Amino acid sequence: MSSPNRRTSFDSDEDPFDCLLQNEIVPEQSITAAETLELSFSNVTIQLVIDPSPGCGGRAWPAGEVLAQYLVKQGPNSLQGKNVLELGSGTGLVGLVAARLGGTVWLTDQAPLLNIMRENVALNDLSSLCTVAELNWGEAIPTEIPQPEVILLADCVYFEPAFPLLVQTLCDLVKEDTEVLFCYKKRRKADKRFFTLLKKHFKWKDVPDDPARATYSREAISLLWLSRC
Ligand SMILES: C[S@@+](CC[C@H](N)C(=O)[O-])C[C@H]1O[C@@H](n2cnc3c(N)ncnc32)[C@H](O)[C@@H]1O
Repeated sequence: MSSPNRRTSFDSDEDPFDCLLQNEIVPEQSITAAETLELSFSNVTIQLVIDPSPGCGGRAWPAGEVLAQYLVKQGPNSLQGKNVLELGSGTGLVGLVAARLGGTVWLTDQAPLLNIMRENVALNDLSSLCTVAELNWGEAIPTEIPQPEVILLADCVYFEPAFPLLVQTLCDLVKEDTEVLFCYKKRRKADKRFFTLLKKHFKWKDVPDDPARATYSREAISLLWLSRC
């Protein structure tokens, strides 16, 4: 993976999601206000506003960068004409990359993250391909969101009370022919409980064709294809 020009992480004392910052691969830096990074994945460059104020989703997470890089490696038009939905988009990084590859993308997260996603869509001039929407896991899928052909998730397993909610949302969205790319960084033993819930409805395997796996697996990151059991 090409190194982004600038990397940032937040002061763990101020972040309610401390577990995310333990064993992090991002070098520790403190940030107290919004700033803009330029992240390059091979031939795709994204300008990304990060901001601590809306919560943990306001920064770029390592699994998101791994998933973004994998998508770019699939080729410049690999998502051309596909309906793509990103869950727990945070800043929107993965969805923005998907749009650069031709996808028609819905970037979704909880309400506090909507503004930063909108800002990043505008900053990258991707308004014609990206729509930002609130989608709270475990709640009904908003009717305006079309059935996705591709679902992307990065770094969405970290908060145990949300595990059943995320599984419920995947059950609501994933049909037999839906492609689901799920990038995950193992941080705590409790993460296992997410996979115990997930396996009641889904099976998964490593993506078969990623030469970068040896690198990111050293950081306890996995990139999985999910499908219905
Ligand atoms: C660790 S961040 C990852 C953000 C982004 N995917 C990335 O890789 O940079 C997890 C994201 O999941 C979102 N999230 C957590 N619980 C959620 C819920 N119940 N419904 C929707 N999104 C949720 C958070 O708001 C946050 O943006």
